[in-house]
Formats: sequence, C-alpha cells, structure tokens
Amino acid sequence: MHSILILNGPNLNLLGSRQPEVYGAVTLSDIETMCRSHSQDIGVNVEFLQSNHEGELVDAIHAAKGTHAAIILNAGAYTHSSIALMDAIASVELPVIELHLSNIHAREEFRHKSFIAPVALGQICGFGAQGYTLALDAAARHIGVAS
Ligand code: DQA
Repeated sequence: MHSILILNGPNLNLLGSRQPEVYGAVTLSDIETMCRSHSQDIGVNVEFLQSNHEGELVDAIHAAKGTHAAIILNAGAYTHSSIALMDAIASVELPVIELHLSNIHAREEFRHKSFIAPVALGQICGFGAQGYTLALDAAARHIGVAS
C-alpha cells in the first residue's frame, strides 16, 4: 500500500492551546486520529511526525525517499525562513503538498512568503484541520490511489 508522510513543524505540538482563535481547538493528536481514519477510507498508509527542530525535519524529508510516495508538510514558521527545507524537498524529488491551518496570505506580510511553495506540488491553507484530509485526498490522487 502507498505510504504518505505527514510532517509537522515547530509549535504544532501545542495545537489546541496555542492561539485557538487562529488555529482552532483541535490538538495535533486529534488531527493524527482524523488522518489515520481518513487514510483507511482512501486506501493509503500514513506516517505522522512532528518536530520543533529544522534539522530533524530535513532528516525526515531525506528518509522519506524510498519509503513514502508523497509528503504533506506543515512546516510552521520554517515555511517563511528555511532554505534548508526547500533544498531538502528539491533533493528528494517527492511530491510535497504544503499545508497550513490558517490562511497565511491573509495574515502578516512575513507569512506571505513561502520557501516551500516553489518546490511544492501545491498549497492548501485556510481550512483549519480539514486541510489535512484535503491534502490526503490530493496526495492520494496524485500518486494514483483513490478516486
Ligand atoms: C502555520 C502558519 C505559519 O505561519 C505559522 O508560523 C505556524 C502555523 C499554519 O498551520 O497555519 O506555525 O503553518
């Protein structure tokens, strides 16, 4: 079965209590449960990871080559700063869907710039936790699984 890596960056471990007016009340563990249930419905496997450390995110992207067919990446604030993540994505040549809970384009100007976007298949933002299931559908369809 195809496997999709869902990778979450800094501060996303605090979802539920972190700025709920921006990010909603769901926890990362709720999101993982939602993703696992949805992945079974559409016939893919998922690995779900979170790290606050840029280098660990780079390592996880490298490790995905050969083990996963696609990556869903919410890089958090590293989205707006990390050339290392951009280079890692370009190096592994895996389809990456950039994901954000909030609509980064409707927020502060510094969030409008994404280093992930130029190397991503596409971007989903502004749909809260539902974005993860939208991204799973998009990834599954891209890799030729599901309807
Ligand atoms: C975020 C948006 C980023 O700008 C922010 O730094 C985050 C979360 C989102 O999911 O909306 O940490 O990636």
